[in-house]
Amino acid sequence: MKINKINKSRLETVDFDNLSFGSIFSDHMLICEFKNCKWNEPEIKPYGPLKLSPGTQALHYGQSIFEGMKAFKSKKDNVLLFRPDKNLERINNSAKRLSIPQIPKDVFIDGLKALVRIDSDWVSKRDGYSLYIRPFVFGSSECIKANSSNDFTFVIITSPTMNYYSDPIDILIEQKFTRAMKGGVGFTKASGNYAASFYPTSLAEEKGYTQLLWTDGINHENIEESGTMNIWFRIKDKLVTPELTDSILPGITRNSILTLASEMNLKVEERTISISEIINSFKNKTLLEAFGSGTAVVLSKIRSISYNEEKYYLPNQEGSYCDKIKTKLVSIQRGDIEDTNNWTVSV
Ligand code: COI
Repeated sequence: MKINKINKSRLETVDFDNLSFGSIFSDHMLICEFKNCKWNEPEIKPYGPLKLSPGTQALHYGQSIFEGMKAFKSKKDNVLLFRPDKNLERINNSAKRLSIPQIPKDVFIDGLKALVRIDSDWVSKRDGYSLYIRPFVFGSSECIKANSSNDFTFVIITSPTMNYYSDPIDILIEQKFTRAMKGGVGFTKASGNYAASFYPTSLAEEKGYTQLLWTDGINHENIEESGTMNIWFRIKDKLVTPELTDSILPGITRNSILTLASEMNLKVEERTISISEIINSFKNKTLLEAFGSGTAVVLSKIRSISYNEEKYYLPNQEGSYCDKIKTKLVSIQRGDIEDTNNWTVSV
């Protein structure tokens, strides 16, 4: 791997008390080109603009996917990645569906570790802080024929971050627009999935909601995801989340919650959840909490769910499942408690 370091770090210019998610980038980035049917040697270099031709394939056809992951600093100053093997697996599942070549393990994992090690001073130890890591790959051939690109560029950038949502969120059940259809790319982190969500989300934001609750694309009857998060409901003492299908993103936080919940002896069901079940559970007071999960948000409490002009406020519980699971997950991620599942990887 080629390494070309910056002369002077920008770290001291960063105001860690006022970090807005994803807008400050660390000193270095990793870049690796796929050309002539093979990946070249990766290079770590100073963070800066990419040189792109206006004919770059991904700008026209969106042949582009990404990942989201985080590095944490432990009390002993170890920098820990959380389940990076899962991100590699998912980026390669996304790559297959988007006709992008598989990213080799050494490029992804070794590149990630080397990059985070070089910028380890950017990983803050403070509570709630981490280094958000954004690997992405896009079609970089200079050709606007509507075909798969021949060349691809894989990049990793990192960004110091704190909590994504500081308060419980208000969500609106979407009844017109669709995030993902059966047979589509909803299970991937295709950039276009996010682009297509911005307009419907902006309509909800204009009405004061934080996010949408996406429903199935056929009848808008069953719940799929919320915003960029997987969704969880606690009905009586049971935690329920939609089962994975090709229109739902297989969240790594979601997968970790399933393991932690079972270790905590909580009852969990992965199954179809209809809007009417949620509304009825609210009305008969068995819907006790709802929360979203994702790399960026970790676990985020939902304050209200709106449907057909009706706003349903969830009970504000002390000792919620959300708090208990989040505390355990974050403690593992930061190396504060024993990691019995071997999820963390020291860089
Ligand atoms: C993540 O949680 O990493 C996501 O994908 C959310 C991101 C789009 C901000």
